[in-house]
Amino acid sequence: MRVTFTVNGKRRSYGGSGMKRLLDVLREDLSLPGTKEGCGEGECGACTVLLDGQAVVSCLIPVAQVAGRRVATVESLGRPDRLGPLQEAFLSEGAAQCGICTPGMLMTASAYLRGGGSTRDDAIRHELAGNLCRCTGYQHIVRAVQKAAATSRARRQTRRARRVTVAMTRQSRRRAVSKRTPRRA
Ligand code: FES
Ligand code: FES
Repeated sequence: MRVTFTVNGKRRSYGGSGMKRLLDVLREDLSLPGTKEGCGEGECGACTVLLDGQAVVSCLIPVAQVAGRRVATVESLGRPDRLGPLQEAFLSEGAAQCGICTPGMLMTASAYLRGGGSTRDDAIRHELAGNLCRCTGYQHIVRAVQKAAATSRARRQTRRARRVTVAMTRQSRRRAVSKRTPRRA
């Protein structure tokens, strides 16, 4: 069967068994190897991707189920030469060691932060409870999520301040021009 769906903002098409796992279609057919396999049984969260904005384990989803829907993988968060805030924070906080759990952690955390999730320690731990990590002890991961939330907030504030400055500059230019323009008698 043919299954068409959106992956990381692009329309993609897969031809083959509709029962093939989304995880395998992403890695083998769509050349997106960022999503990792851990247990293959829905227990570890390593293969987490976003489906219509919700974190799901791609090892349990037959590709036929994603027809017409939106999938986001870890590749959507940034590029090796231009990491997103979460990826940067994982790197700087030492939250990725062997790396098997990392793409899944990143995707769960990105859905959480986009949904306005709290940056309290216990709330982050609760949210990430379905993503298992054998290496880091979780504290580095929690700190990375908090750091990414702070960075994103700061970037939003900077963008907002820039927009206000541009609007004020335009307004004062318009005023200056209208003062210089002579009125007709
Ligand atoms: S590989 Fe999918 S949950 Fe472990
Ligand atoms: S970094 Fe190795 S399992 Fe998490």
